[in-house]
Amino acid sequence: MDFSKMNKIIEGKTKIIYENPDDKDTVFMVFKDDITAGDGVKHDIIQGKALVDWQTNRDIYEYLNRCGVRSHYISSPEEKVSVVKKLERKINLEVVSRRVAAGSILHWGKGIQEGDRYDPVITQFHYKDDPLHDPMLDDDYIEYMIRAKNSIEYSEARRINALVFDCLERAFAAFGVQLIDFKLEYGMIKGEVVLIDEITGGSFRLWPYKTDKPNLNQPNILTELDPAGRLDKDVYRMGGELGEVKDKFGAIAAITAKFKDLPA
Ligand code: C5P
Repeated sequence: MDFSKMNKIIEGKTKIIYENPDDKDTVFMVFKDDITAGDGVKHDIIQGKALVDWQTNRDIYEYLNRCGVRSHYISSPEEKVSVVKKLERKINLEVVSRRVAAGSILHWGKGIQEGDRYDPVITQFHYKDDPLHDPMLDDDYIEYMIRAKNSIEYSEARRINALVFDCLERAFAAFGVQLIDFKLEYGMIKGEVVLIDEITGGSFRLWPYKTDKPNLNQPNILTELDPAGRLDKDVYRMGGELGEVKDKFGAIAAITAKFKDLPA
């Protein structure tokens, strides 16, 4: 496809969205080699990352379709290009679900230890705003929006996040990897809340199991996991070499390539 002749709708940190001249209800999502962290303060280019992210995103969304998750994803017709449904509007939230305590949650309370296991997963809403560093929204406010304002944005996002988590956690588990947490985003299409955006190595934390038969039925599962073998963007956030980051993202794509053989 020749995107030089197409209308660019928006260019983000890791992808560009173009109008589809043949179909006003869909747009093209084109992946870039850029990688960023810290609200875009840290920024690099990793040759080949776009292709790997495109593969991971395709394989995850095709698996989620089989799990019955309503999403914007339609197809991936050529390398680095996906076709997705055009949104009526974006919902300005980052919706984080966590099975295992890691990352920013460790700063929020003395009682929280790395590796603490949450069942069911816990879900937190962040208001998307780089200058404000995506502040987390108060749980009481979210309950108020759901109960008093009947906001399907929050209730549906929470429901879909949990569904996606269960589905992807099971899939990664089949390859000896624990899904620790992830961040998803949503938009509105025809009055419905729909999962949008890319889902790639930057969206989640993935820690391999330490043994073949981990005991995950404990309040804290850190001893069962190998955080040093992490496969995700924390490698980049923590200052890893770009070659190592690319290898880890390649390892994720090699796993998600096998999702097609799994039962949904
Ligand atoms: O940093 P924190 O622990 O809050 O991140 C939770 C999850 O959300 C991690 O999987 C991280 O990769 C993801 N995340 C993200 N984009 C952000 C912030 C967090 O994908 N802007």
